[in-house]
Amino acid sequence: MKVTVVGAGNVGATVANVLAHEDIVKQVVLIDIKGDMAAGKALDSWQQAPIDYYSTSLVGTDDYKLTEGSDIVVITAGLPRKPGMSRDDLIATNAKIVNSVTSSILEYSDDPIIIVVSNPLDVMTYAAHKASGLSDDKVMGMAGILDTARYRAFLATELDVSPKDIQAVLMGGHGDTMVPLPRYTTVAGIPVTEMIDPAKLDEIVERTKFGGGELVKLMGTSAWYAPGAAAAQMVSSIVKDENRIFPCCVKLNGEYGMKDIFLGVPVKLNKNGIGEVIELKLNNDEMDLLKASADHVKQVMDVFDNMSL
Ligand code: LAC
Repeated sequence: MKVTVVGAGNVGATVANVLAHEDIVKQVVLIDIKGDMAAGKALDSWQQAPIDYYSTSLVGTDDYKLTEGSDIVVITAGLPRKPGMSRDDLIATNAKIVNSVTSSILEYSDDPIIIVVSNPLDVMTYAAHKASGLSDDKVMGMAGILDTARYRAFLATELDVSPKDIQAVLMGGHGDTMVPLPRYTTVAGIPVTEMIDPAKLDEIVERTKFGGGELVKLMGTSAWYAPGAAAAQMVSSIVKDENRIFPCCVKLNGEYGMKDIFLGVPVKLNKNGIGEVIELKLNNDEMDLLKASADHVKQVMDVFDNMSL
C-alpha cells in the first residue's frame, strides 16, 4: 500500500510520522511545493525507523510523479489559522490550493481514497470531491475524530480517569457549531451524565467547540499532534479494513434528512473508504443543533460555489 500526504507542514509531517510508526504501509510520500522541506522531514522520519522499529519507507518531494499509484491520499495543504481568524476565513486561499492539488493527484492515481484535513474542513472536502470526480465513498474529511478526542481529553482530566475509557460521538461541521453528544458519551460503559454535574458537562461541551481556537491562541498557529494522529487513524482503519466507527465528514445522500451537504457523521471505515453512514436516533434538540451546523456549512459551501473555481 502507498499513501501520499500532501503538505509537509506540521500536520502533514505528523500524519506521515505517525503512519510510519504504525508500520502498516509500504511507503509514505510527503509532497509539498517546498520540496526540500518535504524531503527533509521524510528523511528525518526515515532516520527514526531504526530507533522506533518500522519498515515503512518515507520519501519527500515536490514532484507529483512520485505519488503515482497512491491508494490513499491525505490532503493537509493550505494555510493554517492565525489568532483571531475563523476556519472559514481561510477559504479564499485554501480552496484554490485544495482544488489544484486534487487535480494533480488524480493525474497519477486513478481511484485513490482521499482524506481532507485542510480548513474550512467540510467545504474543502466538498472541493476535493468536486475536483476529483471520485465516488462519494472515496472522499472524506478528518474532523470528528479530532473534535471528539478534545472532548474526551477534557472529560478525562475532569473525571481523573484514563482517556482510553471515554467513548463519545460528536457530529456536525468542524467549527463552532459542532455538536458534541453527551447522551452518547460513556465512561467505561457508564453514561457520563451519571459521573459529572450538568453545568460542568456544559462547560466541557463549550470548551470543545472552541478547542481548535484555544490552541491557535496559545501557539499562534493551529494544532498538529492530535490532528495528525486523527488523520493517521482514519488511514489505519482503511488499510486494515477494520470497519472502525469514527465521526468523519462525508457527503450525505438523504441520511439525517439531508442531501448534497458535507457534514460530520459517524461512519464505518474499511478498505473501500466509507463503508456505511450510521444514522443515530437523535432527539429533537440534537437534530436542531445538527441542522444549525449544516446551515452554517451550507453557507460556506455557497461561498465556495461562488468562487467558480
Ligand atoms: C484544529 C484544526 C486542525 O481544529 O482545524 O486544530
